[in-house]
Amino acid sequence: MVVVIDSRADMAQERILMKKLKKYHIGILVLSVLGVILLLWAIIATVYNFTGNRHTDHVVLEPKSKSAKYKNAAAVADSRFCAEIARNVIIQGGNAVDAAIAATFCNGVVLPFATGIGGGDFIVIYLKEEKKCVFLNSRETAPSLATEKMYTHDKESAQFGYQSVGIPGELHGLWTAYKKYGSKVIPWSDLVMPATQLAKGFPMHKAMVNYFDRISKYKGRPEIEGLRSLYTSKFTGEFYKVGEIVSNYPLAKLLRVIANSQDPVQLFYNGKVFEEGVAREIFKNSASENCETVPKISIPGSIAEGIIKEMLANGGIITIDDLRNYETHVTVQYRDKKMFNDAEFYHTLIEAQKLAYGQRGHLGDYLFSEVSMQLAKNLTDRKFIKFLSKRVMSQSQDLEYYLAAAPAVLDSGTSQISVVDDDGNAVSLTSSINTAFGSKMLSKYGFIYNNQMDDFSTPGFRNHWGFEPTEANFIQPGRRPMSSMSPTIVFDPNSGEVKMVTGGTGGSKIISAVAQTLVRGLLLGQSAAEIVEMPRVHNQLTPFETEVEEDFSEKILEQLEKEHNQKMEKTDEALAIVYPITRDDDEYTVAADYRRESGNSPAGY
Ligand SMILES: *[C@@H]1O[C@H](CO)[C@@H](O)[C@H](O)[C@H]1NC(C)=O
Repeated sequence: MVVVIDSRADMAQERILMKKLKKYHIGILVLSVLGVILLLWAIIATVYNFTGNRHTDHVVLEPKSKSAKYKNAAAVADSRFCAEIARNVIIQGGNAVDAAIAATFCNGVVLPFATGIGGGDFIVIYLKEEKKCVFLNSRETAPSLATEKMYTHDKESAQFGYQSVGIPGELHGLWTAYKKYGSKVIPWSDLVMPATQLAKGFPMHKAMVNYFDRISKYKGRPEIEGLRSLYTSKFTGEFYKVGEIVSNYPLAKLLRVIANSQDPVQLFYNGKVFEEGVAREIFKNSASENCETVPKISIPGSIAEGIIKEMLANGGIITIDDLRNYETHVTVQYRDKKMFNDAEFYHTLIEAQKLAYGQRGHLGDYLFSEVSMQLAKNLTDRKFIKFLSKRVMSQSQDLEYYLAAAPAVLDSGTSQISVVDDDGNAVSLTSSINTAFGSKMLSKYGFIYNNQMDDFSTPGFRNHWGFEPTEANFIQPGRRPMSSMSPTIVFDPNSGEVKMVTGGTGGSKIISAVAQTLVRGLLLGQSAAEIVEMPRVHNQLTPFETEVEEDFSEKILEQLEKEHNQKMEKTDEALAIVYPITRDDDEYTVAADYRRESGNSPAGY
């Protein structure tokens, strides 16, 4: 999502600001997965659209997150190593795109449970000179042999194993970003090599240790052995502990090959091919309804060939043509929109969330779903937002009141990078392999395959809360599953300055968290450092209660329950992780959300 603000207002002066808000323009990049990112808009605009008393809960005592102020450039990622790598790229003359690419390779090494080249990305790029934003969609895509009901007979196969793997898009997206929008000053290899070094050894952190139960859950299954042994200490025979050094030499080797490649897309997505009878034999065992198509095996020499061999040997359905035909979707246009009024803060925020999440079931890849396109148009339409705002009552209503479409599938497991360079360009990049450790399948190349196919809906499968699935997100070859990823950049069209860069990780909670980040940064004038400390609220309609983080004000919580009929629930879980950069007084403030527990901290100069 791209938000354009048009104002000379002093953001610290809330009152003045509120008057001027009417003048603000918001531009929404029309995205190609369209979808969920636009729900952010619904939340923010609905909050905006309401008048009443606003509770600004300013009880920040001790900061738990690391934040910093920089004059020239700022970066934050899921690991401090990756933020520093991004900063170094900018100091060496690279731009925000180069920096984000280097940080993404790094994130893939240090947070392999969340991201990597076995997965996919959403990248929003702001080009200051042109005052223009670009959206790159390199999300995993359903293979050509995928079918709507492919998981009907074996639900587990949508999450675990090679059948759950969508065509990986990450490397394609990063190379596309580099070719089209990189500085051309920094060679490609310099962006990949720092990650290569880290793959040879980096210290284990709590964020990853927290997810080892996702591996031990499959104990005794031979398919999990690759992944289990990668993260098991040879000395203790147990999973690595925080601080112990972890190495992934196959990944280091792969990254070196990618670093030195003249065309990594050729290497990873192509490869010469020949037909092989044996393919049909192996392939018969897969659950696909479309066994007549004989997959092709390429001759040795390319990574593509290795991937296809792995697929064939393990019942996966991705073919060489799927890899060859993969494309990063690039979207350039955006539209200007206006925002209005004020809000009774938390109540309105919660109501806005319910109304937004209530439409999620209509979201999906708009190239394949008419209703998704229609909803996307609605969500960027002033009249529709007004209509939504009018549905915010002073009291919480019944579930049915908010439900425009059956709630969508769950999604999770992402990684975020936010960067501004010293020319004022910016990148917000969210990448993912879906659930923790993706399909749990470790490629011989050292990366983990995504299980993004599980983000689709399947006809007849009621979801977690008993709702029927909606057609907007059914599996179809070439289609990309609905996502909550919401990389966002806000800029002022007059000065061209970036006002905010943000984005987050945490599945469906990303939407409400990023919306709160924007509401705080734009409407309340808070800095990145303040924004990450504030306790967050989350209501995705199902379950029909509002989760609040533990340090949320007791007083406000009580008021919400008593005066607004809200059902509140404290949680000790993080309500997503956000990496905001804000700009004020010619200075960037950048913060690394403490909730990640990955030893993250920002960098800049
Ligand atoms: C979009 O808005 C129109 C008019 O308000 C409405 O009839 C239609 O159902 C909406 N579609 C979606 C998918 O929200």
